Amino acid sequence: MVLAVKAKDLRVGYMDEEENILWAVKGVSFEVRQGEVFCLVGESGCGKSTIGNTIIGILPPYAVTEGELYVFNKPVVVGNLRDYTGIRGRVVSYVPQNPGTSLNPYQTIGTQLYYVLNSVYGWDKKKSLEVAKKYLSLVELDPESVIDYYPHELSGGMQQRAAIAIALSTGAKILVADEPTSALDAHLRLQLIKLLMKLRETESLTLILITHDLVSTGKICDTVAVVYSGKIVEKCSGSNVIIEPLHPYTQMLADAVPLLGIKRPLKSIPGEPPKPGEEIAGCVFAPRCPLAFEKCVEPPPSFNVYNGEVACWRYANIAGR
Ligand SMILES: Nc1ncnc2c1ncn2[C@@H]1O[C@H](COP(=O)(O)OP(=O)(O)O)[C@@H](O)[C@H]1O
Ligand SMILES: [Mg+2]
Repeated sequence: MVLAVKAKDLRVGYMDEEENILWAVKGVSFEVRQGEVFCLVGESGCGKSTIGNTIIGILPPYAVTEGELYVFNKPVVVGNLRDYTGIRGRVVSYVPQNPGTSLNPYQTIGTQLYYVLNSVYGWDKKKSLEVAKKYLSLVELDPESVIDYYPHELSGGMQQRAAIAIALSTGAKILVADEPTSALDAHLRLQLIKLLMKLRETESLTLILITHDLVSTGKICDTVAVVYSGKIVEKCSGSNVIIEPLHPYTQMLADAVPLLGIKRPLKSIPGEPPKPGEEIAGCVFAPRCPLAFEKCVEPPPSFNVYNGEVACWRYANIAGR
């Protein structure tokens, strides 16, 4: 089994002018197998994008790291040292949330693909455009016309495909897609997911999807990591996340999702996540958890249970500890 990504007790923070560090990711460990679709889910502000940006290697200069991160066995983060040489762009690439703002409005799609390929491989325009066309067809755009289009001449869905073509054009094998469907309507969302699944097969991609959409997560992901306040509180299979959530937080997320054909009252998630920078000594979810008990003043370890891993003291007995 080849591991595409491995994080070991990874912490990521942002330093402000007074040199205080706000820890956005507070010690996460996970493994992503090559070819896997791995999802990070959780409410806004829980640290999903920070984890994604750390994998891609696009943290800002004032970011601080601890722990370890490997991409295909190459250490890219070791403590506060970060080195993405040969990895960023070439091995790991990303699909932006909003291609309308990340594509350059003044350049044609062809020119943008050329600049990427020229800067990564030094290819000339002719060779770059040949490769560019291959990737545009791969994302089901008509290469001959789209290559000369400016972003505003494309629909939102087409812009998203063009952004994926640019991300893949370097031959990257790991694609991090940060909320790739949030700017699209339901129909286009489904099409984009289908496209990503197809590319995963044909290009042997490893996909890391960041989303707060639990329903599509359940349908397409092999593994789901549920993130709460900078920690992974649960890891389980995609199919289990809605039908058999383990952690009380995942249970709340699942209860808030409308399921086709099933009549039940939808519940909103009570309470609020901790404020950024707020340090909680015990379980991060305890202040909001309806099932919290005395033990939860201590931070729970991750317990292995039959269908996943869960950081919740209620599983201590089941896991045999
Ligand atoms: N570039 C940044 N500089 C400073 N703080 C940031 C930056 N990016 C994210 N944060 C902070 O880190 C925390 C986690 O944010 P983020 O990773 O974007 O979460 P999510 O993607 O789950 O919404 C938030 O408190 C956010 O304000
Ligand atoms: Mg985000």
